[in-house]
Amino acid sequence: MNIVVTGGAGFIGANFVYYMLKQRPADKIICFDKLTYAGNMATLDKAMTKEKFKFIRGDIADRRAVDKLFRDEKPDIIVNFAAESHVDRSIEDPELFLRTNILGTSVLLDACRKYGIDRYHQVSTDEVYGDLPLDRPDLFFTETTPLHTSSPYSASKASADLLVQAYSRTYKIPVTISRCSNNYGPFHFPEKLIPLMIINALHDKKLPVYGKGENVRDWLYVKDHCSAINLVLTKGKAGEVYNIGGHNERRNIDVVKIILKELGKPESLIEHVEDRKGHDRRYAIDPTKIRNDLGWEPETKFEDGIKQTIQWYLEHKDWWENIISGEYQNYYDKMYGNR
Ligand code: NAD
Ligand code: TYD
Repeated sequence: MNIVVTGGAGFIGANFVYYMLKQRPADKIICFDKLTYAGNMATLDKAMTKEKFKFIRGDIADRRAVDKLFRDEKPDIIVNFAAESHVDRSIEDPELFLRTNILGTSVLLDACRKYGIDRYHQVSTDEVYGDLPLDRPDLFFTETTPLHTSSPYSASKASADLLVQAYSRTYKIPVTISRCSNNYGPFHFPEKLIPLMIINALHDKKLPVYGKGENVRDWLYVKDHCSAINLVLTKGKAGEVYNIGGHNERRNIDVVKIILKELGKPESLIEHVEDRKGHDRRYAIDPTKIRNDLGWEPETKFEDGIKQTIQWYLEHKDWWENIISGEYQNYYDKMYGNR
């Protein structure tokens, strides 16, 4: 099979490329990525040596480029990871999120209509459900929870989900959608909570915690997300939505304290800064459907995954030093300079 992975030079997409090269050695994996600030060829170094892997630079919102991709590569499966993915950037500048996340998705779907596809899979997020109150630990997101978004990022992802469902119904394109909770693990871009805190702590820099740090995220090790998507591709039913999560809810402040403890750094590095606008309080996935229907279970416990992740950042300084020495520095100064 020819499997196109869009956004495969980013955090989860690259982990998925490696996962698929290992799990499905007979299939060809084609990464189609625009290489925005978040895409990194160094991440794909090892994949580039594999015969079954091909990289194509391109923009999912560019109709001509996507047409050429379909004509040349004749994909059987599309897995769409390509997106602008950072909530804080979407608050600063929403427009690019609409172009890539919504228009880009529609361009891919149009190509599926035109050329045919065995499966179009949309990698969505639990953020499309909005947030849950902190004082109702009994509430979880299920696949039927209404979409109720808070940030330009989540609104663009929810719009894309609606388009995917509309194309499924109207044009009978065989689609699936997965909505996963927050991921962590290797190749996570340093602007996101966990890698940012690891890297700042290593430099004895302040750790900027938004507000009181009481917001809750439901963390899943990235490899478990990859195994879930592969299972949806093989066993999932066209037209269905699958939530992915491992019931691992943590307050941000507690995640930051675990990182400091692992690195032997003092909690005095924590600095409470101005809160994110519209900050979602709590995310929590109910993964009953994917567990019961497809038999998926996460493998990595947070206690182990966070240690492995910290170890990975210690062993791959070149990877992140390259990132933080470039354009990222301007972003960091703009974001945290006067907070
Ligand atoms: P990321 O920002 O690390 O990577 C995004 C990748 O997409 C980059 O390689 C970038 O170059 C590429 N890209 C951006 N715009 C593009 C375009 N127009 N055309 C082609 N490529 C483009 O993101 P991530 O954290 O790996 O997230 C991947 C997907 O998973 C996203 O769709 C995101 O919404 C979803 N998701 C992420 C999380 C998470 O915790 N990170 C959780 C659930 C769902
Ligand atoms: P993030 O990694 O941006 O993921 P998301 O907003 O998509 O869940 O942020 C995770 C949580 O950490 C979120 O509640 C915001 C918080 N946060 C901080 O407190 N400080 C930071 O510097 C960042 C980037 C995030």
